[in-house]
Amino acid sequence: MKFPQADQILVEIQNANPQNKEELEAFRIKYLGSKNIVKPLFAEMGKIDPAQRKDYGQLLNEIKNTAEEKYRKLKSEIERESARHSTQKLDLTAPPLPRKKGSRHPVDIVMNRVIDIFKKIGFSLAEDREIEDDWHNFTAMNTPEDHPARDMQDTYYLRDIEGMLLRTHTSSVQARVMTHQKPPIRIIAPGRVYRNETISARSHCQFHQVEGLYIDKEVSFSDLKQTLLYYAREMYGPDAKIRLRPSYFPFTEPSAEVDVYWGLESEIDHRITKGTGWLEIMGCGMVDPKVLTNCGIDPEEYSGFAFGMGIERQALLAYRIEDIRWLFENDIRFLRQFHAAI
Ligand code: DAH
Repeated sequence: MKFPQADQILVEIQNANPQNKEELEAFRIKYLGSKNIVKPLFAEMGKIDPAQRKDYGQLLNEIKNTAEEKYRKLKSEIERESARHSTQKLDLTAPPLPRKKGSRHPVDIVMNRVIDIFKKIGFSLAEDREIEDDWHNFTAMNTPEDHPARDMQDTYYLRDIEGMLLRTHTSSVQARVMTHQKPPIRIIAPGRVYRNETISARSHCQFHQVEGLYIDKEVSFSDLKQTLLYYAREMYGPDAKIRLRPSYFPFTEPSAEVDVYWGLESEIDHRITKGTGWLEIMGCGMVDPKVLTNCGIDPEEYSGFAFGMGIERQALLAYRIEDIRWLFENDIRFLRQFHAAI
């Protein structure tokens, strides 16, 4: 034993066997803490015969490394052991805590109801992209270059990709489907749309629509009206009444807006229907022959109807929500209220 003191410490460390957290901490303080017993040995260096200094230095390093390694190993062993003990303390016979179920978003609930209603009469689901090109969103839908809907103020254009935008309506899916499918076509297209609008209690820059499209031989306006009446009765009850008001959309001719009779019993009814008792729920019409031609369908052979409805508005009404912004805030206190609604 060339360096009895240091050699002894090394042996001590090798033999040490801390059994628990407290003993391990004592080990750490003694050999690795800021006042550990190895430190003074480093200070002895100057007193060592220069010929033996290298060996001495190596021995001190070995002491340090041995202590560090032992500490690390024991620490993880002891931690693992105590974790095992704590799981053993679990009472596995205890009945499970009730699991918290998530709830559906009110927009989702209403949208799914709309989808179910149309699925029952043979419409199938067509979903497509939210980032769209100018052609599918506007040009194919017979919306000319200088139409106000194209204005920068309404549409979010992609800054770096010419001609690309966030779709402003689900009518773009009509163009997607008609260019890929041959009639008969009977689809509904739900999804999110975007418009550059000031956010307020009544309007938002993002919202949801459900689009409907039916193309076949000899589809008529009365087919449209009957389909919409069916929808209103399923959605608003068997006594629901609708009316169609003439309107204008570039992609339909003739076009109409659809109102459902809401009633005029309470003061709230007066307020939300602006005193008329009627509520507007969607736009619709016979697909303009130019739209069919644009999408490669012969208007001499086929005709069709289309409609597009907003979902938020119907969700606000169904759940008496005062402010559309609640629908986009992801506030868990708001969302939890829809547990029972699924
Ligand atoms: N795309 C229209 C909008 O966002 C709604 C609409 C109206 C869709 C008439 C249609 C339609 O399919 O025929 O305001």
